[in-house]
Amino acid sequence: MKPRILLTGPIQEKGYKLISRYCDVEGDIHQPLERADVLRMSRDKDGLMLASHIKIDAEFLDATPNLKIISTVSVGFDHIDVDEATKRGVYVCNTPGVLTDCVAEVTWSLILSTYKRMSEAERFVRSRKWTRAFYATEFLGRDLRGKVLGIVGLGRIGIRVAEIAKAFGMKVAYNDIIRQKNAEKLGIKYFSLEKLMATSDVISIHTPLRKDTYHLIDGSKIALMKKDAIIVNTARGPIVDEKALTKALKENRIAGAGLDVFEIEPLPLDSELFQLENVVLSPHRGSASYETRDAMAELAARNMIAVLKGRMPPALVNPEVLKVKPLKSMKLL
Ligand code: DGY
Repeated sequence: MKPRILLTGPIQEKGYKLISRYCDVEGDIHQPLERADVLRMSRDKDGLMLASHIKIDAEFLDATPNLKIISTVSVGFDHIDVDEATKRGVYVCNTPGVLTDCVAEVTWSLILSTYKRMSEAERFVRSRKWTRAFYATEFLGRDLRGKVLGIVGLGRIGIRVAEIAKAFGMKVAYNDIIRQKNAEKLGIKYFSLEKLMATSDVISIHTPLRKDTYHLIDGSKIALMKKDAIIVNTARGPIVDEKALTKALKENRIAGAGLDVFEIEPLPLDSELFQLENVVLSPHRGSASYETRDAMAELAARNMIAVLKGRMPPALVNPEVLKVKPLKSMKLL
């Protein structure tokens, strides 16, 4: 009998084909499942190909004792209680690396769109309000050359965002819990978070969501920002206190925000953010390109197959699990 896998959300055909060659796959390639259905359908499964909207906690893991591997089709794994998975000998894998360029490019789309007020201008033209040929004093954005980009969390994506900033003639600073000496040698300066918030013209968030990064950017940090600075978040919504950010944007205490992620997703329809001209909104799509989503689906499938073959997967999140349940005991293929 082939291992039984549940697919919890849409996935590129490349990954689906690969996984189907080895496993019996339940779930719809086009249709995301609700969590209650995932829970019900996972009880007899050996593996989950997981979309990041499904929360995996102790209660879920207790109800799915067969589960050997959770392969999330995302680099972030804040939706999975990794400690609880490790305790139960469940392997957790993710998709780092393959989405670095895409997320960095989407970050730059948001930086440019916000700093140059592109979305606002587009809304103006689209709503047929463009009635004079040239507006010399309106829709003024700001130039990037010579400005400071402050990166919160200098991992793979943060570094790529920094590289691109150099092409715009920007100075780059970062804050991270780990000092990145190699990056510092390339001229990326380390600042305390307070100094970074107070001196940057563009702030970009790239840290993972953990207990210690929840509301890392709270009202007091936002209050440090310059009036003409912007903040962009393509990491995770709860890293920024959205209520405090909304207030600062409403009061024009900062120039703008470009947001791909939110504290609650999808963004609740009564969110005040919808009313604000100085915000660019995007529906959590940092890794949304054909090439990147193909690569993510393939890597997630390779993670799954490797574990079910009793082999080391390409991207294991919880190596401690190897001591709880050795890889050879995972072997079903
Ligand atoms: C990721 O890969 O973490 C993306 O944000 C999708 O959740």
